[in-house]
Amino acid sequence: MKRVIVKVPASTANLGPGFDSLGMALSLYAWIEMSIADKTTFRLHGEQMKGLPTDRSNLIYKVAQLVFKEAGVHVPELHIEMYSEIPLTRGLGSSASAIVGALVAANALIGSPLSEDKLFQLATAWEGHPDNVGASLFGGIIASAWDGERADYVKLAPPASLSTLVAIPAFQLSTEKARHALPSQLSMADAVFNIGRSSLLVAALATGELGLIRSAMRDRLHQPYRAALIPGMAHILDHACDHGALGAALSGAGPTLIAFVDKTSERKEELEQFLLATLKKEGIEAETRWLEPCKEGPQVIIEALAGGASPLLMDRIKGEIKR
Ligand code: HSE
Repeated sequence: MKRVIVKVPASTANLGPGFDSLGMALSLYAWIEMSIADKTTFRLHGEQMKGLPTDRSNLIYKVAQLVFKEAGVHVPELHIEMYSEIPLTRGLGSSASAIVGALVAANALIGSPLSEDKLFQLATAWEGHPDNVGASLFGGIIASAWDGERADYVKLAPPASLSTLVAIPAFQLSTEKARHALPSQLSMADAVFNIGRSSLLVAALATGELGLIRSAMRDRLHQPYRAALIPGMAHILDHACDHGALGAALSGAGPTLIAFVDKTSERKEELEQFLLATLKKEGIEAETRWLEPCKEGPQVIIEALAGGASPLLMDRIKGEIKR
């Protein structure tokens, strides 16, 4: 008998122009504990887990069963625990982290028969796009593409001097609603605009040419259409660089906004105040957080359950939780 604890990073997707293809892991985490049990039970810790299913319709349980099916093993009963400091439905990849955490935990529980690439394929098909799941699974920055059957990716190490500031509005926005706002067709001019920006952004991040980020993070594919859902967003994207940001984007499908910032910047306080004041002017309460790019994917601990009391998940991770 053993238990597996997986710590998996949050992510920001799109990075502006790289809709459904670029992602970066961030230093905010979810923890999933899984063990084989006689009867399926759940312990979901923390306020924001309240209301999530604690039966076999639970996402973690369903994703774990997908792994077992792929591996050809039968493990119907599980004990699952979860704690997450990633805010839900805010554009920081909470569902991707849960999917990746469940895939990695379930795979580790049965001796890791599935390759990392296989987990990426399963995660992408489940989520419907590879950007968030790829970042959470591999860490760092990923450039990816999915054709509906196979997802490919390249991982880049984040530039050493890159930090990020996120402004997390106090309201939730579902990815489904934010995708619904998108047009079904784009002009050739806008497509060319985005290809140029996205290519430039990947090259700038790969070579550390942070001065190019300002222009490279611009987007005409999704942000203009989603702006109406996040009052203040257009102003922030247009002016964040005037307040010390290297560039700014909607994080994933939003509503969180993310600014890329040079770690050594002396204008961090100014930028934070600009984001908060702009949102406040629109009547939106928000919290800001400084997050670092997370260089690695999930950390996995496998321990034997040897009859006696094992430390509880929350006792185990309390030193790591930010607050
Ligand atoms: N690429 C996705 C989108 C990320 O923008 O809709 C959201 O999960």
